[in-house]
Amino acid sequence: MIIVTGTTGQLGAAVARQLADRVPAERVVASVRDPAKAHALAELGIVVRQGDFADPMSLVSAFADADQVYIVSVSKLGEEALRLHRAAIDAARDAGVRRILYTSHMGARHGSAFAPADQHAGTEADLARSGVAHTALRHGFYAESCLMMVGDGLKAGELRVPEDGPIAWTARDDLAEADAVLLADEGLLDGPTPPLTASEAITMAELAAIASEVTGREIRHVIVPDQEWRDAKIAAGTPAVYADVLLGTFRAARRGDFATVDPMLETLLRRRPLGMRQVLSKAGI
Ligand SMILES: NC(=O)c1ccc[n+]([C@@H]2O[C@H](COP(=O)([O-])OP(=O)(O)OC[C@H]3O[C@@H](n4cnc5c(N)ncnc54)[C@H](OP(=O)(O)O)[C@@H]3O)[C@@H](O)[C@H]2O)c1
Repeated sequence: MIIVTGTTGQLGAAVARQLADRVPAERVVASVRDPAKAHALAELGIVVRQGDFADPMSLVSAFADADQVYIVSVSKLGEEALRLHRAAIDAARDAGVRRILYTSHMGARHGSAFAPADQHAGTEADLARSGVAHTALRHGFYAESCLMMVGDGLKAGELRVPEDGPIAWTARDDLAEADAVLLADEGLLDGPTPPLTASEAITMAELAAIASEVTGREIRHVIVPDQEWRDAKIAAGTPAVYADVLLGTFRAARRGDFATVDPMLETLLRRRPLGMRQVLSKAGI
């Protein structure tokens, strides 16, 4: 069986669907916290089991008979995220899986200004310690995260952001498809993968220029001091802890942490990954 976690979320659901197109659906298990949210997957013939990383006992039955477990990282911060991922890794090891696949990040690095990247490095170290064959999927930065971060500014015609650096924005559905390819062809990549990215890394200035072309409206790019940008985010209702994560994105980007592009995603997809121009067009920005 191939266990896919996080299937009530956007990435995991897309992976489970893509995988059920490649292997018999009854070999795919959707491990979810709340099975009531997984009807659509059950209708495809995918097996639905209850499993919560915060309740390790639940993972014994959720991961039973697993050949591979695909662990979708939780969107929690700090030690809590590491603890939840560790519980999933331990449960997969105890279930005797041949391989664990974990959704890491292209910027995974201890000491990163982008807090999730630091956590991914911690979980990659836990995977290495587990003794189980594993693949740390170093996903490019979700293009959808870019839209969440600056979509309103693009619509308003002024991108007011801190100083940045190039980011290899990558469509989440492209990553889901590539992950399904790897699950279906077990063992194709081992250990941390090359960055799984679209074909270019762009700065905010370049993003504003692309958005101007796509919309036919001028979208200005204005650099705002870090503290002023953070204060404005918090004043607009963003919790301070998330404002810091967002600011960390810009700070890590300045260092070049998200600047690498690599052909591996294109190789896995056997087609060119979506670029930001197409993502903006599809999103109707
Ligand atoms: N590469 C990037 O740039 C990037 C950007 C943003 C996020 N991410 C990471 O990628 C992950 C997947 O993205 P997404 O868009 O699919 O997120 P999402 O839609 O929020 O899905 C997250 C999934 O994780 C599940 N989950 C949360 N806590 C869990 C727990 N204790 N035990 C088991 N499952 C749990 C959720 O289940 P429920 O439905 O029960 O809550 C949900 O299915 C995120 O969680 C985040 O870590 C990466």
